Amino acid sequence: MKEIYFAGGCFWGTEHFFSGVDGVVSAVSGYAQGRADFEGRPSYEQVYTDTTGFAETVKVCYKPERISLDMLTDLYFDIIDPLSLNRQGHDEGTRYRTGVYYSNPADLPVLEAAFARAEARVGQPLVVELEPLRNFFEAEERHQKYLDKNPDGYCHLPFKTFRYLRLYQDIAAFLGDEADPVTRMAEISAFIYERMKFFWVGFYIGRGSELVLGPFQGPPACMRIGFGRGVCGTAWKEARTVVVPDVEAFPGHIACSSLSRSEIVVPVFAAAGSDGHSATATRMPAQKTSVPATASRAVVTVLDIDSKDLDTFDSTDALWLEKICKLV
Ligand code: SME
Repeated sequence: MKEIYFAGGCFWGTEHFFSGVDGVVSAVSGYAQGRADFEGRPSYEQVYTDTTGFAETVKVCYKPERISLDMLTDLYFDIIDPLSLNRQGHDEGTRYRTGVYYSNPADLPVLEAAFARAEARVGQPLVVELEPLRNFFEAEERHQKYLDKNPDGYCHLPFKTFRYLRLYQDIAAFLGDEADPVTRMAEISAFIYERMKFFWVGFYIGRGSELVLGPFQGPPACMRIGFGRGVCGTAWKEARTVVVPDVEAFPGHIACSSLSRSEIVVPVFAAAGSDGHSATATRMPAQKTSVPATASRAVVTVLDIDSKDLDTFDSTDALWLEKICKLV
Protein backbone atom coordinates (compact mmCIF):
# COMPACT_ATOMS: atom_id res chain seq x y z
CA MET A 1 0.00 0.00 0.00
CA LYS A 2 1.21 3.51 -0.83
CA GLU A 3 0.05 6.99 0.09
CA ILE A 4 -0.08 10.43 -1.50
CA TYR A 5 -1.61 13.69 -0.30
CA PHE A 6 -3.74 15.95 -2.49
CA ALA A 7 -4.89 19.47 -1.65
CA GLY A 8 -7.58 20.31 -4.18
CA GLY A 9 -9.79 22.96 -2.63
CA CYS A 10 -12.56 21.95 -0.23
CA PHE A 11 -11.67 18.49 1.06
CA TRP A 12 -15.28 17.30 1.10
CA GLY A 13 -15.31 17.03 -2.70
CA THR A 14 -11.69 15.93 -3.11
CA GLU A 15 -12.14 13.13 -0.58
CA HIS A 16 -15.41 12.00 -2.19
CA PHE A 17 -13.77 11.90 -5.60
CA PHE A 18 -10.72 9.87 -4.56
CA SER A 19 -12.86 7.50 -2.47
CA GLY A 20 -14.49 6.51 -5.76
CA VAL A 21 -11.26 5.78 -7.61
CA ASP A 22 -10.67 2.07 -8.24
CA GLY A 23 -7.51 0.97 -6.45
CA VAL A 24 -7.87 3.59 -3.71
CA VAL A 25 -8.24 1.92 -0.34
CA SER A 26 -9.01 5.01 1.71
CA ALA A 27 -9.28 8.76 1.36
CA VAL A 28 -9.12 10.79 4.55
CA SER A 29 -9.75 14.51 4.92
CA GLY A 30 -7.15 16.43 6.88
CA TYR A 31 -4.89 19.43 7.16
CA ALA A 32 -1.28 19.65 5.94
CA GLN A 33 1.64 22.01 5.40
CA GLY A 34 0.82 24.22 8.38
CA ARG A 35 3.17 26.81 9.81
CA ALA A 36 6.23 25.27 11.51
CA ASP A 37 5.47 27.17 14.72
CA PHE A 38 1.88 25.94 14.93
CA GLU A 39 1.59 23.73 18.00
CA GLY A 40 -0.35 20.46 17.82
CA ARG A 41 -3.43 19.55 15.88
CA PRO A 42 -5.42 22.35 14.28
CA SER A 43 -9.21 22.49 14.43
CA TYR A 44 -11.34 23.20 11.37
CA GLU A 45 -12.21 26.58 12.89
CA GLN A 46 -8.53 27.47 13.30
CA VAL A 47 -7.72 26.42 9.74
CA TYR A 48 -10.74 28.42 8.58
CA THR A 49 -9.13 31.65 9.88
CA ASP A 50 -6.52 31.18 7.14
CA THR A 51 -3.71 32.10 9.54
CA THR A 52 -2.36 28.63 10.35
CA GLY A 53 -0.79 27.90 6.99
CA PHE A 54 -2.64 24.59 6.76
CA ALA A 55 -4.25 23.50 3.50
CA GLU A 56 -7.28 21.20 3.36
CA THR A 57 -5.60 18.02 2.20
CA VAL A 58 -6.75 14.48 1.47
CA LYS A 59 -4.58 11.51 2.37
CA VAL A 60 -5.05 8.89 -0.34
CA CYS A 61 -3.94 5.30 0.37
CA TYR A 62 -3.86 3.13 -2.74
CA LYS A 63 -2.75 -0.20 -4.09
CA PRO A 64 -0.03 0.53 -6.68
CA GLU A 65 -0.78 -2.75 -8.45
CA ARG A 66 -4.33 -1.46 -9.11
CA ILE A 67 -3.66 2.20 -9.83
CA SER A 68 -0.42 4.00 -10.52
CA LEU A 69 0.67 7.26 -8.93
CA ASP A 70 0.78 8.57 -12.48
CA MET A 71 -2.89 7.91 -13.05
CA LEU A 72 -3.90 9.17 -9.63
CA THR A 73 -2.09 12.45 -10.20
CA ASP A 74 -3.60 12.84 -13.67
CA LEU A 75 -7.05 12.38 -12.09
CA TYR A 76 -6.14 15.01 -9.52
CA PHE A 77 -5.37 17.46 -12.31
CA ASP A 78 -8.73 16.62 -13.89
CA ILE A 79 -10.60 17.97 -10.86
CA ILE A 80 -8.64 21.12 -10.06
CA ASP A 81 -8.01 24.41 -11.78
CA PRO A 82 -4.20 24.39 -11.68
CA LEU A 83 -4.00 28.06 -12.67
CA SER A 84 -6.17 29.36 -9.84
CA LEU A 85 -4.21 30.58 -6.83
CA ASN A 86 -5.84 30.04 -3.43
CA ARG A 87 -9.22 29.52 -4.99
CA GLN A 88 -11.11 26.45 -6.23
CA GLY A 89 -14.73 26.84 -7.23
CA HIS A 90 -16.39 29.24 -4.82
CA ASP A 91 -13.85 28.61 -2.05
CA GLU A 92 -11.18 31.17 -1.50
CA GLY A 93 -8.23 31.35 0.91
CA THR A 94 -4.82 29.78 1.35
CA ARG A 95 -6.51 26.78 3.04
CA TYR A 96 -8.00 25.99 -0.38
CA ARG A 97 -4.69 26.18 -2.25
CA THR A 98 -3.74 23.28 -4.45
CA GLY A 99 -0.80 20.99 -3.79
CA VAL A 100 0.56 17.50 -4.05
CA TYR A 101 2.54 16.41 -1.00
CA TYR A 102 4.57 13.21 -0.91
CA SER A 103 5.78 11.16 2.03
CA ASN A 104 8.06 9.02 -0.11
CA PRO A 105 10.87 10.97 -1.90
CA ALA A 106 11.02 8.21 -4.53
CA ASP A 107 7.65 9.49 -5.79
CA LEU A 108 9.07 12.87 -6.79
CA PRO A 109 10.16 12.04 -10.38
CA VAL A 110 6.75 10.53 -11.17
CA LEU A 111 5.02 13.60 -9.74
CA GLU A 112 7.31 15.98 -11.62
CA ALA A 113 6.43 14.18 -14.85
CA ALA A 114 2.70 14.46 -14.07
CA PHE A 115 3.12 18.18 -13.35
CA ALA A 116 4.99 18.62 -16.65
CA ARG A 117 2.14 16.87 -18.51
CA ALA A 118 -0.45 19.09 -16.85
CA GLU A 119 1.58 22.21 -17.59
CA ALA A 120 1.95 21.22 -21.23
CA ARG A 121 -1.82 20.71 -21.41
CA VAL A 122 -2.72 24.14 -20.03
CA GLY A 123 0.24 25.91 -21.65
CA GLN A 124 0.98 28.10 -18.62
CA PRO A 125 2.95 27.76 -15.38
CA LEU A 126 0.90 25.95 -12.73
CA VAL A 127 0.26 27.42 -9.28
CA VAL A 128 0.08 23.98 -7.66
CA GLU A 129 2.53 23.16 -4.86
CA LEU A 130 4.73 20.09 -5.07
CA GLU A 131 6.40 19.52 -1.70
CA PRO A 132 7.39 16.85 0.78
CA LEU A 133 4.52 16.32 3.21
CA ARG A 134 4.70 18.25 6.48
CA ASN A 135 2.56 17.97 9.61
CA PHE A 136 -0.56 16.20 8.35
CA PHE A 137 -3.46 15.85 10.78
CA GLU A 138 -6.72 14.05 10.13
CA ALA A 139 -9.74 16.34 10.22
CA GLU A 140 -12.57 15.97 12.71
CA GLU A 141 -14.94 13.02 12.28
CA ARG A 142 -17.77 15.25 11.04
CA HIS A 143 -15.63 16.14 8.00
CA GLN A 144 -14.93 12.51 7.08
CA LYS A 145 -17.13 11.09 4.29
CA TYR A 146 -18.98 14.38 4.48
CA LEU A 147 -20.80 14.00 1.16
CA ASP A 148 -21.86 10.44 2.00
CA LYS A 149 -23.35 11.74 5.24
CA ASN A 150 -24.77 14.83 3.52
CA PRO A 151 -25.68 13.85 -0.04
CA ASP A 152 -27.12 17.30 -0.70
CA GLY A 153 -24.20 19.04 0.99
CA TYR A 154 -22.00 21.63 -0.62
CA CYS A 155 -19.45 20.45 -3.15
CA HIS A 156 -17.20 22.67 -5.23
CA LEU A 157 -16.97 19.95 -7.87
CA PRO A 158 -19.90 19.45 -10.23
CA PHE A 159 -21.82 16.37 -9.07
CA LYS A 160 -21.65 14.85 -12.51
CA THR A 161 -17.88 14.50 -11.99
CA PHE A 162 -18.58 11.57 -9.65
CA ARG A 163 -20.97 9.91 -12.11
CA TYR A 164 -18.47 10.29 -14.92
CA LEU A 165 -15.64 8.85 -12.82
CA ARG A 166 -17.75 5.73 -12.12
CA LEU A 167 -18.79 5.52 -15.78
CA TYR A 168 -15.23 5.90 -17.06
CA GLN A 169 -13.84 3.26 -14.73
CA ASP A 170 -16.68 0.82 -15.43
CA ILE A 171 -16.25 1.16 -19.19
CA ALA A 172 -12.48 0.66 -18.94
CA ALA A 173 -12.89 -2.44 -16.76
CA PHE A 174 -15.67 -3.90 -18.92
CA LEU A 175 -13.88 -3.45 -22.23
CA GLY A 176 -10.69 -5.03 -20.93
CA ASP A 177 -8.47 -5.91 -23.84
CA GLU A 178 -11.21 -6.34 -26.45
CA ALA A 179 -9.37 -5.48 -29.65
CA ASP A 180 -12.17 -4.54 -32.05
CA PRO A 181 -12.86 -0.78 -32.06
CA VAL A 182 -16.41 -1.26 -33.36
CA THR A 183 -17.21 -3.54 -30.46
CA ARG A 184 -15.67 -1.05 -28.07
CA MET A 185 -17.71 1.79 -29.60
CA ALA A 186 -20.89 -0.28 -29.28
CA GLU A 187 -20.32 -0.93 -25.59
CA ILE A 188 -19.24 2.65 -24.91
CA SER A 189 -22.38 4.09 -26.49
CA ALA A 190 -24.56 1.66 -24.51
CA PHE A 191 -22.82 2.50 -21.23
CA ILE A 192 -23.16 6.26 -21.73
CA TYR A 193 -26.79 5.98 -22.88
CA GLU A 194 -27.85 3.72 -20.01
CA ARG A 195 -26.04 5.59 -17.26
CA MET A 196 -26.39 9.20 -18.30
CA LYS A 197 -29.88 8.93 -19.84
CA PHE A 198 -29.04 11.10 -22.82
CA PHE A 199 -31.44 11.15 -25.77
CA TRP A 200 -28.99 9.85 -28.37
CA VAL A 201 -25.43 8.55 -28.08
CA GLY A 202 -23.41 7.24 -30.99
CA PHE A 203 -20.34 7.23 -33.12
CA TYR A 204 -19.84 8.49 -36.65
CA ILE A 205 -16.88 6.86 -38.33
CA GLY A 206 -14.68 8.66 -40.86
CA ARG A 207 -14.79 7.06 -44.29
CA GLY A 208 -13.18 9.06 -47.07
CA SER A 209 -14.71 12.53 -47.04
CA GLU A 210 -17.75 11.47 -45.02
CA LEU A 211 -18.72 10.32 -41.58
CA VAL A 212 -20.91 7.23 -41.61
CA LEU A 213 -23.14 6.16 -38.76
CA GLY A 214 -21.51 3.61 -36.46
CA PRO A 215 -22.69 1.96 -33.23
CA PHE A 216 -25.32 4.03 -31.47
CA GLN A 217 -28.17 4.01 -28.96
CA GLY A 218 -31.38 5.97 -29.44
CA PRO A 219 -33.74 6.72 -32.32
CA PRO A 220 -32.70 6.13 -35.94
CA ALA A 221 -30.34 8.88 -37.13
CA CYS A 222 -28.93 10.25 -40.36
CA MET A 223 -26.44 7.86 -41.89
CA ARG A 224 -23.88 10.10 -43.55
CA ILE A 225 -22.46 13.52 -42.70
CA GLY A 226 -20.06 15.37 -44.97
CA PHE A 227 -16.66 16.62 -43.88
CA GLY A 228 -17.14 20.00 -42.18
CA ARG A 229 -20.94 19.61 -42.18
CA GLY A 230 -23.11 19.89 -39.11
CA VAL A 231 -21.72 19.64 -35.61
CA CYS A 232 -20.15 16.24 -36.22
CA GLY A 233 -18.40 17.29 -39.41
CA THR A 234 -17.16 20.45 -37.67
CA ALA A 235 -15.66 18.50 -34.76
CA TRP A 236 -14.01 16.18 -37.29
CA LYS A 237 -12.66 18.99 -39.46
CA GLU A 238 -11.42 21.10 -36.53
CA ALA A 239 -10.26 18.09 -34.47
CA ARG A 240 -11.81 19.48 -31.30
CA THR A 241 -14.75 18.94 -29.02
CA VAL A 242 -17.76 21.06 -30.00
CA VAL A 243 -20.36 21.93 -27.36
CA VAL A 244 -23.66 23.25 -28.72
CA PRO A 245 -25.97 24.70 -26.04
CA ASP A 246 -28.80 25.28 -28.53
CA VAL A 247 -28.79 23.36 -31.80
CA GLU A 248 -31.01 25.95 -33.45
CA ALA A 249 -28.32 28.55 -32.95
CA PHE A 250 -25.63 26.41 -34.60
CA PRO A 251 -25.37 27.25 -38.31
CA GLY A 252 -25.58 24.10 -40.40
CA HIS A 253 -26.78 21.83 -37.62
CA ILE A 254 -28.20 18.63 -39.06
CA ALA A 255 -31.45 17.81 -37.32
CA CYS A 256 -31.89 14.04 -37.13
CA SER A 257 -34.66 14.48 -34.59
CA SER A 258 -36.66 17.56 -33.74
CA LEU A 259 -36.44 16.48 -30.10
CA SER A 260 -32.71 17.15 -29.92
CA ARG A 261 -32.05 20.57 -28.31
CA SER A 262 -28.35 20.56 -27.38
CA GLU A 263 -25.37 18.39 -28.15
CA ILE A 264 -21.69 17.64 -27.74
CA VAL A 265 -19.40 16.05 -30.29
CA VAL A 266 -16.01 14.69 -29.24
CA PRO A 267 -13.31 13.55 -31.67
CA VAL A 268 -11.64 10.17 -31.32
CA PHE A 269 -7.99 10.33 -32.31
CA ALA A 270 -6.07 7.53 -33.94
CA ALA A 271 -3.20 7.49 -31.47
CA ALA A 272 -3.19 7.28 -27.70
CA GLY A 273 -3.98 10.61 -26.07
CA SER A 274 -1.48 12.83 -24.36
CA ASP A 275 -2.08 11.20 -21.00
CA GLY A 276 -0.83 7.97 -22.54
CA HIS A 277 -3.06 5.72 -20.44
CA SER A 278 -5.03 4.22 -23.26
CA ALA A 279 -2.99 1.41 -24.69
CA THR A 280 -6.03 0.30 -26.69
CA ALA A 281 -6.54 3.60 -28.48
CA THR A 282 -3.56 2.85 -30.68
CA ARG A 283 -5.40 -0.18 -32.04
CA MET A 284 -7.85 1.95 -33.97
CA PRO A 285 -6.86 1.47 -37.61
CA ALA A 286 -5.76 4.64 -39.35
CA GLN A 287 -7.97 5.84 -42.19
CA LYS A 288 -7.11 4.08 -45.39
CA THR A 289 -9.24 6.16 -47.71
CA SER A 290 -8.38 9.69 -48.71
CA VAL A 291 -9.48 12.57 -46.51
CA PRO A 292 -9.73 16.16 -47.67
CA ALA A 293 -6.39 17.92 -47.36
CA THR A 294 -7.59 20.15 -44.54
CA ALA A 295 -8.78 17.27 -42.39
CA SER A 296 -6.84 16.36 -39.34
CA ARG A 297 -5.74 12.86 -40.19
CA ALA A 298 -5.58 12.09 -36.51
CA VAL A 299 -9.37 12.09 -36.11
CA VAL A 300 -10.88 8.74 -37.12
CA THR A 301 -14.30 8.87 -35.50
CA VAL A 302 -16.50 11.23 -33.51
CA LEU A 303 -18.73 10.59 -30.52
CA ASP A 304 -22.01 12.47 -30.84
CA ILE A 305 -24.36 12.94 -27.87
CA ASP A 306 -27.73 14.68 -28.07
CA SER A 307 -29.95 15.93 -25.29
CA LYS A 308 -33.64 16.80 -25.26
CA ASP A 309 -32.83 19.77 -23.03
CA LEU A 310 -31.10 23.01 -23.85
CA ASP A 311 -27.60 23.67 -22.52
CA THR A 312 -26.94 20.16 -21.20
CA PHE A 313 -23.19 19.95 -21.79
CA ASP A 314 -20.27 21.90 -20.37
CA SER A 315 -16.54 21.57 -19.78
CA THR A 316 -17.05 18.71 -17.29
CA ASP A 317 -18.84 16.63 -19.94
CA ALA A 318 -16.13 17.54 -22.44
CA LEU A 319 -13.31 16.49 -20.12
CA TRP A 320 -14.79 13.10 -19.19
CA LEU A 321 -16.13 12.26 -22.64
CA GLU A 322 -12.68 13.02 -24.07
CA LYS A 323 -11.23 10.55 -21.56
CA ILE A 324 -13.87 7.99 -22.49
CA CYS A 325 -13.10 8.49 -26.19
CA LYS A 326 -9.51 7.48 -25.49
CA LEU A 327 -10.91 4.08 -24.53
CA VAL A 328 -12.11 3.45 -28.09
N1 SME B 1 -26.85 16.77 -35.12
C1 SME B 1 -25.74 16.20 -35.74
C2 SME B 1 -26.16 15.10 -36.67
C3 SME B 1 -26.19 13.75 -36.01
S1 SME B 1 -27.54 13.51 -35.02
O1 SME B 1 -27.52 14.48 -33.94
C4 SME B 1 -27.54 11.99 -34.38
C5 SME B 1 -24.85 17.21 -36.46
O2 SME B 1 -25.30 18.33 -36.78
O3 SME B 1 -23.73 16.87 -36.73
